[in-house]
Order: sequence, then structure tokens, then C-alpha cells
Amino acid sequence: MLRMAVAGAIGALVVIAVTLTLGCGTFLGPAVCGPWRGPFAASTPVTVKSAARHAFYRNSGVPAPYRGQTNPFRPSIPLVLAGADLYDLRCAICHGPMGLGNGVASDKLRQRPADLAGSVSSPDIGNDFLFWTISEGGTQFGTDMPRFKHDLTDAQIWTIIGYMRAAFEGREANASP
Ligand code: HEC
Repeated sequence: MLRMAVAGAIGALVVIAVTLTLGCGTFLGPAVCGPWRGPFAASTPVTVKSAARHAFYRNSGVPAPYRGQTNPFRPSIPLVLAGADLYDLRCAICHGPMGLGNGVASDKLRQRPADLAGSVSSPDIGNDFLFWTISEGGTQFGTDMPRFKHDLTDAQIWTIIGYMRAAFEGREANASP
């Protein structure tokens, strides 16, 4: 009887210790526990994408002014470095340093910022989607994604897209737990 009680108590302690170490979200998910806060949080995508944005893109593509737009720049190291600086300055605060949607301001938004590593790795997302989204922001979809078209030049936006493709593509697979 005593041995069973001791074994039970030890079992309970192990469960509590594991839960504390790995974080509530590991077991119950972010919907119950809030943003995931386990030990791998820095490299784990935490995003919910705008379903309305993706449905719009699937059904109608990008709006007319953005249709057929392609990156005018060939990838190069200086361009990627310039894009990294711009991304760091304008995007990392929400989307996180590696595009995983976990920037320092991400908790304060109505909807968490998108996991850009996942976005640029998806075969369904073209550069037209990225250029349109960054230019126009989330006003149309009621999100906090800022509109950058008056703040950044087209060339700067393409430079950031070039950087995201170079740095984030394929990362989301490695980052998943
Ligand atoms: C104030 C926080 C904030 C900043 C700063 C910000 N974003 Fe966002 N971004 C969001 C949020 C929230 C979403 C999700 C809602 C949406 O799609 O409108 C988002 C979505 C996106 C998406 C859509 C991805 C997808 O697959 O749905 C792209 C692309 C994007 N952001 C790129 C950028 C880039 C590039 C920058 C910097 C130039 C930037 N964002 C700056 C908050 C931000």
C-alpha cells in the first residue's frame, strides 16, 4: 500500500516536472495555454495566418496593380545583406528575427504575425503575394500587418523579399518540433 502511494507520488511529481519543463502548450496547444513558451520557443512557429487573405489570393489572385509583378533584382550577396538590414529594422519586431512569427511585439497584436518562413516555403505563395501583402498591409483583412507602400520604395520591398527567400525558405521544416 505504502509502496503504491510512494510510486503514485513520484509519478505525479514526474508529470508536473515534465509539464513545467516543456510548457503547457506542448501538451494542450496554444489555444488552451496561450503562446507556446517551451524551451524551443525561439525556433518554433507560433503563427496563425490570415485565412481571409489566403482565401482572397486563392480565389482572385492579387489585385490588379500587383498582377504579374516580379522581382526586378537577381539575387546577390550585397542585396541580401541590404534586405537583412531592412527586415531587421521594419519587420523583425513582429515577425521575429528568423521570420517565425515570434517577434517581441507579437503578443500585443489582434492576430499574431504570420510565420514568414512557412509562407516563403509554401509552393502556393508567389512573389506577387508577398509584394502585394507588404505593400498594402492588413487593412482590407482587419489585421495589424502595416501597409508599407508609402514607407518603403518598391525596390526596398523587393530587396526584403529577396532576403526572406534567401534566409527563411525551408526553415519552417527544421523549426517544427
Ligand atoms: C506590427 C506588426 C507587424 C510588422 C511590423 C510587420 N508585420 Fe507582416 N504581418 C503582421 C500580422 C499580424 C500578419 C498576419 C495578418 C495578415 O496576413 O494580414 C502579417 C502578415 C504578413 C505576411 C503574410 C504572410 C502569409 O503567409 O499570410 C507577410 C508576407 C508579411 N506580413 C511580411 C512582412 C514584412 C516583409 C514586414 C516588414 C517590411 C512586416 N510584415 C512587418 C504583422 C506585422
